[in-house]
Amino acid sequence: MAAKILVVDDDPNVQRLLQYTLKQEGYEVVSAVDGAEGFRLWASELPDLILLDVMLPKLDGYQVAQKIRAEEGEGSHIPIIMLTAEREVEQKVRGLRAGADDYLIKPFHPAELLARIKSLLARFAPKELMLARPPLGRVLAFYGAKGGVGTTTIAINAAIALHRELGRKVSLIDGNLQFGDHRVFLDLGLDRKSIVDVVTAPSMDLDLIKQVLVKHDSGIDLLLAPPTPETAELVTTDNLPVIVDHLRDLYDYILVDIDKRLDDINLGILESAETIFVVMTADLSCLKNVRLVLETIGHLGFADRVQLVLNRSNAFTGISVKNAEGALRKPIGHQIVNEYRGAISALNSGAPFMFTKSDSPLGGSLLQFARAVDKPAAAEAAKAALAAPR
Ligand SMILES: Nc1ncnc2c1ncn2[C@@H]1O[C@H](COP(=O)(O)OP(=O)(O)OP(=O)(O)O)[C@@H](O)[C@H]1O
Ligand SMILES: [Mg+2]
Repeated sequence: MAAKILVVDDDPNVQRLLQYTLKQEGYEVVSAVDGAEGFRLWASELPDLILLDVMLPKLDGYQVAQKIRAEEGEGSHIPIIMLTAEREVEQKVRGLRAGADDYLIKPFHPAELLARIKSLLARFAPKELMLARPPLGRVLAFYGAKGGVGTTTIAINAAIALHRELGRKVSLIDGNLQFGDHRVFLDLGLDRKSIVDVVTAPSMDLDLIKQVLVKHDSGIDLLLAPPTPETAELVTTDNLPVIVDHLRDLYDYILVDIDKRLDDINLGILESAETIFVVMTADLSCLKNVRLVLETIGHLGFADRVQLVLNRSNAFTGISVKNAEGALRKPIGHQIVNEYRGAISALNSGAPFMFTKSDSPLGGSLLQFARAVDKPAAAEAAKAALAAPR
């Protein structure tokens, strides 16, 4: 059965263009020309997805999205794509906070619109289908070979890409216990719950962990680092492996952002992880660290779990990818492009680029990385689907 799409836009030209594009693609289309009518049709027509203009007569797009979110029942969630003419990041973030799942800046290419619609419809496919598949439960460690190489940037944005673009259930742990940065990167206050609330509870079970996880607007769930360096001491060596094991029952991917220390806590995480992404840049001191880390991880018997991620790969350092691979005697598995302004402005605004600017070169690079990360699971799923009786 064709999915039904509700188009809410007061511009007759946009309406015509959207109706034509969507019908060509085989979707059923219903349309409204103001916010109040849009809200009414959402209730009476039961569409599968809404394309919602921001500037609308009667109720604006934000108000419509908010009203729908307030009224739809527990466990139901209609995907909403906001269509905005405004270029400001803040406006987009406002739209996403109001309850939109994605946004597009006008004018947009029909192919881009159709790709977003497809991805959202897949992500919000009927719950029974989603529930039928057990979570993948894979732990991915992001280990920074040196401070400041971009480990946190990559872990956060990969988590968002895996969820928003590839439809995976994702949680992200800030394993940088003393100086965790996720609150800054994601604009969250010190009042939010953290791992300390898990480890100081009388007993640690999945229900407790679920209560402590912080839901980010992008749809990923966060386990934040302790609010102060002193409280970090409350987390003991065996806590994190137990926590990630619980999370395996709920999530496709559990990403853990850790720093360069090879202490017992970090070693515990490396041991739990199916894949260890060693994040590096192409400079000598970083290469030296990567070599030492590869040696240590090799002694522990985890060498085959390691994949090298070269960040800022196209920045000039005088050391080429080939040179780095030669020095490390290991291929660089992934490369993320250098885009200082995009990375730093996302950090300073508390809005990750994969959430608000996924169409930037840096966003594209992270999406490519996320696809590569998800490839083994996606291939297994395709094989299983082929083998299943029809
Ligand atoms: N691909 C990139 N291109 C340009 N700048 C980047 C890129 N990735 C990260 N940065 C910038 O590098 C700086 C450090 O990033 P980040 O905090 O993610 O690194 P880290 O390895 O987690 O650092 P720490 O050791 O403090 O935990 C930030 O200013 C960030 O904006
Ligand atoms: Mg960091």
